[in-house]
This record gives sequence, C-alpha cells and structure tokens, in this order.
Amino acid sequence: MSPLCRLNGIGIYVPDKILSNHDLEKIIDTSDEWITVRTGIKRRRKAAPGQNTSDLALMACRNLFSNARLGIAPNDITHIIFASITPDSICPSTACNLSAKLGIPHVPALDFNAACSGFLYGLMLANGLVAAQPDAKVLLVAADILTSRVNWEDRGTCVLFGDGAGATVVTNHAAGRGEQDFSATLEDLSVGADSQGGPCLTAGIGGNTSAPYKLGDRVTENFFIQMDGREVFKHAVRNMSAASAGMLERNNVTIDSLECLIPHQANARILEAVAKKLNIPDDKLFINVQEYGNTSAVSLLIAMHDAYAQKRLSKGNKTLLTTFGAGFTWGSALLAIE
Ligand code: UT7
Repeated sequence: MSPLCRLNGIGIYVPDKILSNHDLEKIIDTSDEWITVRTGIKRRRKAAPGQNTSDLALMACRNLFSNARLGIAPNDITHIIFASITPDSICPSTACNLSAKLGIPHVPALDFNAACSGFLYGLMLANGLVAAQPDAKVLLVAADILTSRVNWEDRGTCVLFGDGAGATVVTNHAAGRGEQDFSATLEDLSVGADSQGGPCLTAGIGGNTSAPYKLGDRVTENFFIQMDGREVFKHAVRNMSAASAGMLERNNVTIDSLECLIPHQANARILEAVAKKLNIPDDKLFINVQEYGNTSAVSLLIAMHDAYAQKRLSKGNKTLLTTFGAGFTWGSALLAIE
C-alpha cells in the first residue's frame, strides 16, 4: 500500500503545575494506592489560572516550529485543524484564536470534536486535505484543559484527567522528507464509531440546546465529565484491540516486525489489556499515562513525542497507534518512521 501522508515534527506542551495523587488525597476521598493500582496514573498537569486551550496550543506550536530543521514556518501553513473538547469558547473557534496568536490570521482554521480520538480523526481530515490539495501544509493541533471540566467532587473521574497540547504538520508524502528529527509516513488509517455508547461518557455545554441556560442559572453536574467507567473500560479494550488487529492483518504486519504499540493513554490497565489481546509483549507497549493522566486527543501526540525521545521509535520501523474516546469513537493507524 502506498503511503497516505507525512507527519513532520511533533511539538508538545504541558503546563508547569503538577498535581500528584498525594495532592488529590488532600481534596477528595482517594488514595495514591487506589489511583496507581486502578489506573497507573501518578501525576497530571494542570493549566494555570488565565491559561486557556489556545495558549497551550500556541506553546506546543512554538515548540514545533522552533526546531529549525523542520523547514516549515507558520507562514507556510495552509490550514489549521484543531481537536478539542474544551475549546476556548463556542465561537470564535480555538483554531481561529490560535491562528491569531501564531500571526497567521488569514489561514482557514476550524475546530472539530472526536473526544479522545481527536488525533486520529484529525489525521483522517488532514489526509483528505493533502490528497485534494497536494501542496497543503496542514497544522494538526490537539489541546485540552480537561481539569476545567471535571467535577472535583466526583472521585471516579477527577483523578483521571490532565491538561496539555500537541501539534504536527501534515503534508503529502510525495512532498518529501525534510531535515526534522521526527518524521513518519501514514501507511494506513481506520476510524470507527458507535453512537449508542454516547451516554456512557458525557460533558454538557451549559444547559442544552433544548433547555438552554438562562442568565443566573446554577451550573449542574451535567456540565462536567460524567462517565460509566466500567462500560467505557470494556468498550475501550474491545474496540482498540479489534481496530489494531484489523490494521496489522490488512497490512501484513507481524508482531515481530512491529516496533511499538502506542495506545491512547487512558488507563494503564486498559493499555495492558489491549496489548495482551494482541499478543504484543510489554517491551513493545508504550505507556506514559503515569506522568500526564488522560489528556484526551493530546495523549497520542505526547506519547509519540516521549517514545521518540526515549528512542522507542526508530527509522525504518513501524509503529501502531490506537485510540478510543467518547462518542464512542475509536481508530487505529500504522506509521512508518523515517
Ligand atoms: O479516554 C477514555 C476515557 N475513559 C477511560 O478510559 C476510563 C475507563 N474506565 C476506567 O479506567 C475505570 O473504570 C476507572 C479507573 C474509572 C474506575 O476503575 P474501576 O476498577 O472500574 O472502579 P469502579 O468504578 O468499579 O469503582 C470501584 C470502587 C467503588 O467503591 P465501592 O462501590 O466498591 O465501595 C468506587 O466508589 O472504587 C471506588 N472509587 C474510588 N476509590 C478511591 C472510585 N474512584 C475512586 C477513587 N479513589 N478515585
């Protein structure tokens, strides 16, 4: 199969503030032991007061473009597509806010929402753009401040999430590889959905469109992330495993020839269960959820960035990405590292 498109560089940013499990013990009835055993998470990052989603994204983009060897500057960007479930506002879009902050206010820019599957859904969109317009340079960004949308009185959810941002530039694979450190071609991609799972993981927008908030209404639980954890767990393992198995089979990639499996960093137990179902050994499974918690659509970008820095992704080898999120949405992608 010929490659679909190229990912050029990865820039990430996480806020300075670290919220450890011991910090959470002081604000809610939980323990470091419970969180560690049930999720693998040890700490997560929290945005500073006044920092919003486009600010985090701007820092990730600066880190991406500051690598001189990338050979792509903000002025070269032709489109911005932005995955987030915690946008700065409903309008203007966070993508437009980011384009202003990057000094490229005339670049077409839009937000989209595929929850934790945002990065792979974004690759699908970016791939379509570069197929239609081969000279396109699509800035694919994911950023979320999930700590702004957790109910700090719900211990079943508030311990899970963290804040962060990531970005890459997607180009046509025929455009050629630059001098940047990280470069990969997208060999294959599949995404899926089952909207019957929608009620299992929700966050409102302030009332809802059929019963909108009026001035002075109080915020209710519906405004925050609500989750049927056990259902989500089950479907996450099932769908990430099936999507990944299908991807490997379709591309004749054996476990031996696969260098690394990078799943969406939701919960270490979910990731280990997926790897086990696929017969992928522990040393090929990449996990960094202990450092950042679940950062939604950003998690694959942070994980790829860290895996590359730790020399877990090497030239000529194949990496499998897989994800699962609210909707339900999921996906899998095969990368060839250049
Ligand atoms: O990106 C996709 C989004 N989300 C996910 O992937 C999350 C998927 N789900 C999960 O990761 C797990 O279901 C959780 C980590 C959320 C929960 O783990 P669990 O093993 O399914 O626990 P549970 O919800 O069945 O709760 C077991 C017990 C309950 O106490 P009782 O009723 O047995 O007395 C909970 O009240 O654990 C209690 N519990 C806690 N205890 C201490 C729930 N949260 C906490 C907590 N600290 N933070």
